[in-house]
Amino acid sequence: MAQELDTSALQRVIDNYKDLPSNLIPVLQEIQDEIGYLPPEAQTFVSRQLGVPLSTIYGVITFYSQFSTSPKGKYVIHVCDGTACHVRGSNPIIEAIEKILGVTEENRTTDDLLFTLERVSCVGACGLAPVVVINKKVYGEVDVDRMSEILEGIRCGEELGDDQ
Ligand code: FES
Repeated sequence: MAQELDTSALQRVIDNYKDLPSNLIPVLQEIQDEIGYLPPEAQTFVSRQLGVPLSTIYGVITFYSQFSTSPKGKYVIHVCDGTACHVRGSNPIIEAIEKILGVTEENRTTDDLLFTLERVSCVGACGLAPVVVINKKVYGEVDVDRMSEILEGIRCGEELGDDQ
């Protein structure tokens, strides 16, 4: 059964921007920060509150890759696939993560909502390539074995705390 959306957090964001409907992107960003993603119910809520057509909201969400319409895992794994990381082996790392977590190109989040895998462009740490960022923690010079250890460490609570 679908869970009903608690709109109180969304309403607080809207109240901050109510007279500024042109600030659609910050509104969407704040709401995504609050609830983790932008489900259809949240899009409809924003549309009604700001008087912005739903089609405009959908267009913004699909244009900017920072927005997500599906829930993400507790740990978001960003594998850098910029040039430096790519030539130093980002693809085998991505393939290893996909295999370990059972995620695919179409479904990037594990069923238990623990992990989401995302391929990103340069994160600005090319000297450490290949680089993986999980939530806010940066891992440099990662290889397939190290990646496997990191994921195992997260699963058993030895890697990254709740604040990461
Ligand atoms: S290309 Fe990966 S950090 Fe720059």
